Amino acid sequence: MKINFDKSFWFGTSTSGPQSEGWKNKKNDNIMDTWFKERPEDFFDKIGPNIASNVYSQYDEDIQMMAKIKLNSFRTSIQWSRLINNFDTQEINIDAVKFYRDYFEQLRNKNITLMVNLYHFDMPQILQDRGGWENKEVVDLFVKYATKCFELFGDLVDYWATFNEPVVPAEAGYLYKWHYPFISDLKKAVQVGYNTILAHSKTVKVFHELFKNDLNKKISIILNLTPCYPKTNKEEDVKASHIVDLFFNKSFLDPVIKGKFPIDFVKLLKSENLLPECNRDELKIIRENIIDILAVNYYQPRRAKARDTQFSGPLMPEKWFETYNWPEARINPYRGWEIYPRTIYDIAKDIKDNYNNFPWFISENGMGVQGEEKFVKNGIINDQYRIDFIKEHLYWLNKAIADNSNCLGYQIWTFVDCWSWNNAYKNRYGLVYLDLETQKRIIKESGYWMKKMIENNNMFELTNEEVEKYESIK
Ligand code: BG6
Repeated sequence: MKINFDKSFWFGTSTSGPQSEGWKNKKNDNIMDTWFKERPEDFFDKIGPNIASNVYSQYDEDIQMMAKIKLNSFRTSIQWSRLINNFDTQEINIDAVKFYRDYFEQLRNKNITLMVNLYHFDMPQILQDRGGWENKEVVDLFVKYATKCFELFGDLVDYWATFNEPVVPAEAGYLYKWHYPFISDLKKAVQVGYNTILAHSKTVKVFHELFKNDLNKKISIILNLTPCYPKTNKEEDVKASHIVDLFFNKSFLDPVIKGKFPIDFVKLLKSENLLPECNRDELKIIRENIIDILAVNYYQPRRAKARDTQFSGPLMPEKWFETYNWPEARINPYRGWEIYPRTIYDIAKDIKDNYNNFPWFISENGMGVQGEEKFVKNGIINDQYRIDFIKEHLYWLNKAIADNSNCLGYQIWTFVDCWSWNNAYKNRYGLVYLDLETQKRIIKESGYWMKKMIENNNMFELTNEEVEKYESIK
């Protein structure tokens, strides 16, 4: 069977500033930098973001390599803590402006469509000390920073995103203590989530005012959608699964596309006295400023069932559900995440049926593998598992497009193996291998597979056995 994508389809990769650039010429710390400086033992092999993949100095080489593989799109982020020297006066770092301008210009020269994101979990430490996303003053400072970015780089960048995975700072930093500042407080997490949406909508408003005469300019938000499947079709499991969706998906998806929070979610928060501090003017801004295009990161679904036991302890979303471990799940053993490509089709269908077939694209999908050096053959990493992973996801995406989903592209996480928070370089995701000692880049088999597929007019073939296998996994 031939799997074919349109000529204009975006095939590319994504990364973020804090995970790729390194600290060279960076004057302010973000919370991830502080976390590493304070507790290096929390990071795999005690590797921090200080060098990362040295993109600050090697971006030109990476862009040449992207062009060689024929990738036509790329996403990265500007680091707030790099661009701004003084958050009150908005004084900017001239080195940062030079760096980002040259980086973006070189991508443009290679006809690589660039998406620039403004925030990837990287709150400047000085602003975290003032309360971070709990503080509405920080919301307004973010909008000022975003405005600066549009003014400084708007001539070079058409596609912008406000936030990557805004649910993550709320859940990881304010609920489950996975990330700095290690707080666990559902009421605060709700306020953090709400304030992020407010910052997003205010930014969208400024963007549309600034670029109202330029139809090529589009703004988006990157959501990590994790649709939840109930254990059974019994009412109580379906209800549990619906609540998971409200907390982790719809609470962000609805306001950015529909301009309002899901009514069931508002009711639930109200019943527990969890509603965030908000006012009519803010809600009006959220209502009136929706995105132009949606970016979706997809790694794994969620699975839930009704609670078997009474919930106890401080209030958490788990009061309303239990995670269900599906016995047939295929798990990536290195990352511990379920591999379930069919969800891509379900996401596309949800966007088509419930969000008026809104334009969207996959902005992250990928497979993190530990110890890839053991797969080296003839000097390159033979990552057939990653090629199989990509093929199966593209099969479902292609099927969704055939059923009229308005999907514009597919970006793999990531181009060159990058640093990843406390997992550091444990799991590698890249199409290109990074030698941490020398910073040398070597294209993996998956990179060559992408090149071949793109050169073949965005087409690859699947055997009947492969298609039967994909379809048999329900
Ligand atoms: C995404 C994030 O959710 O997952 C990235 O946007 C992250 O920043 C990626 O690196 C992979 O996750 P991890 O934890 O395996 O590195």
